[in-house]
Amino acid sequence: GLPQRVTVYEVGARDGLQNEKAVVPTSAKAEFIERLAGAGLWMIEATGFVHPKWVPQLADADELMPMLASRTFNEHTRFPVLVPNRRGLVRAAATGAKDIAVFASATETFALKNLNSTIDDSMKEIEATLQQALARRMRARGYVSMCFGDPWEGPVSMRKVTDVVVRLIDAGCTQVSLGDTIGTATPGHVRTLIDALERRGVSRDRLAVHFHDTYGQALANTYAALQAGIATVDASAGGLGGCPYAESATGNLATEDLVWMLDGLGITTGVDLQKLVDVSSWMAGILGRPAPSRTVQALMKG
Ligand code: HMG
Ligand code: MG
Repeated sequence: GLPQRVTVYEVGARDGLQNEKAVVPTSAKAEFIERLAGAGLWMIEATGFVHPKWVPQLADADELMPMLASRTFNEHTRFPVLVPNRRGLVRAAATGAKDIAVFASATETFALKNLNSTIDDSMKEIEATLQQALARRMRARGYVSMCFGDPWEGPVSMRKVTDVVVRLIDAGCTQVSLGDTIGTATPGHVRTLIDALERRGVSRDRLAVHFHDTYGQALANTYAALQAGIATVDASAGGLGGCPYAESATGNLATEDLVWMLDGLGITTGVDLQKLVDVSSWMAGILGRPAPSRTVQALMKG
């Protein structure tokens, strides 16, 4: 059956903004995050401590985090930050970050493009980073990119994906998010991968899903994941985003589209949909383009 409650892991401020051409002022990012929390989201990935030359949109991470600390949030709200390596961890820790997210690739080509490294070397760096994060009592999630298809390598074998997921969990990630970076997954494939992970000893409560809507499959894939017992779903307010190192990656599953479906299914998220639509419309104004989310377009006032 379906879960009664789903945790929406909001990635708009990171996965969304990292791929927008417009560079959003730091104070507007802080306001964005504050308003997302005001709409009931409580897992909000705030930014990334990646190399500022690689992702200039997030170059203000060191300034943004203290701005968040000076604002008032519900005590349950968490602000994980993306961290690629030990250098990123030191930067994150200096801002008081308590939750990190590391990211790995299921394919060699994308490991090289996104992390400038092989899978094995990047995993060694990630493992060293996780060790230091755990020593600092931080909580860590892992992402695996290209779980369902790779723009350069084509189909990706289950074995490659499950190997990386298991390695991340063994290294201390409490949750691993299965990334469909280029949006080519379909629901049957989602189910097969989750079942394959179960056979490798990865239980469903350790998994999240991260869909991009490039082929219009993100909601169908999410439904398949919910039916398979997954209860954490990544989404991006307004449907912002993509990935700068995978040209064919367009926006994430929109949080509003997700919440519309979950509300209809009677699944609790704690998110106030109309408030969230207002936030995304406001951000669309800053970015100078309409929010890609169909639900935002349908519910926008005026
Ligand atoms: P590199 O150039 O190979 O780094 O980049 P390096 O280790 O060779 O170091 C070179 C210089 O960079 C050194 O400085 C380091 O200190 C510095 P120097 O000694 O020459 O003065 N450096 C850093 N500076 C600041 N922050 C750091 C950092 N690390 C090294 N963290 C690196 C390797 C991993 C840093 C780079 O490739 C990188 O930043 N990649 C990030 C790419 C990225 O952000 N991609 C998007 C996020 S992933 C994603 O979107 C997918 C996801 O959404 C899931 C899905 O959809 O699939 C999560
Ligand atoms: Mg992504």
